[in-house]
Amino acid sequence: MTRLGILISGRGSNFEAIADNIAGGELDAEIAVVISNRSEAPGLEAARRRALPAVCIPSKGLDREVYDRMVVEELRWRGVELVCLAGFMRLLSATFVRAFPNRILNIHPSLLPAFPGLDAQHQALEHGVRVTGCTVHFVDEYLDAGPILIQAPVPVRDTDTVETLSARILKEEHRIYSEALRIAIGGNYRIEGRRVILG
Ligand code: GRF
Repeated sequence: MTRLGILISGRGSNFEAIADNIAGGELDAEIAVVISNRSEAPGLEAARRRALPAVCIPSKGLDREVYDRMVVEELRWRGVELVCLAGFMRLLSATFVRAFPNRILNIHPSLLPAFPGLDAQHQALEHGVRVTGCTVHFVDEYLDAGPILIQAPVPVRDTDTVETLSARILKEEHRIYSEALRIAIGGNYRIEGRRVILG
């Protein structure tokens, strides 16, 4: 069974959705470790409640390379084969990316390449787009870049606030992250340039 390493910085609802799908037999994987760079991340507590290995590796004050080496070491020690960034608020160094080539996924709450970076839902509302959504992509050393595996559209309503829009996007995030994992685990795809060709 594919061993997942999940990296979080906060709430961890994407992690919990993945854990639920594994528990429900909808995803053939096991969570080898949940790592947070913030000790106060509620997702760490959620992992412990589920009796999953939950590790805090604080990033504060550490050089990116040094920090990433520590995380890679922990992932390797746990036998992780596929890394899922799930609200992990850090850019990965080239060292980290090279340690898991095309084996790191991220979820972002917009239809990339629109609205990368922080507050994507706020950016979408400010811009006035009619449709936004979420994206699961392979991770490279650039911000919210890397070949796209899956996207889901979410219409913007005239009455939307950041909160209501974020909630509807989050629902789709929880669905497509596991779908993306099924593809990444199944291996029935190839990457050609920026394109992920399925089947
Ligand atoms: C999600 O919106 C995700 O797309 C973004 O950060 C948020 C994390 O939420 N990268 P959670 O910690 O998974 O609940």
